[in-house]
Amino acid sequence: MKRFAIFFIPLAALAADEWKLPEERPVFKPGADLAQANCLICHSHEYISTQPPLTRDQWKASVTKMQQKYGAPLPAESVDALLDYLVKNYGKPAQ
Ligand code: HEC
Repeated sequence: MKRFAIFFIPLAALAADEWKLPEERPVFKPGADLAQANCLICHSHEYISTQPPLTRDQWKASVTKMQQKYGAPLPAESVDALLDYLVKNYGKPAQ
């Protein structure tokens, strides 16, 4: 039994080394669960992250357009939280 233990430990260590997780490269800035779940259905995050900084009203207009014009299935009760996220990370204060 003792022999097996000595033989297997280094193998296990090798295997562990091989399976390191890849470095994380988040698509959206952190905290983006809502955007991740609701805004990537039709297009990439770049439609959002490459916009010039928008005010909350402008983001709201954009999100409303996604819902009404394109049919984005964003639950009404999530809109405020999503706007918080968009304004904080891709926005600017109202002028
Ligand atoms: C049902 C499909 C769909 C979903 C879901 C969706 N979009 Fe869009 N979005 C579109 C389409 C279609 C365009 C226009 C593409 C074009 O004109 O080339 C677009 C374009 C945009 C643009 C570029 C500016 C503009 O108005 O054309 C922004 C910003 C944007 N979307 C934000 C969002 C956000 C934020 C969400 C999450 C709430 C979202 N989208 C979810 C379909 C969608």
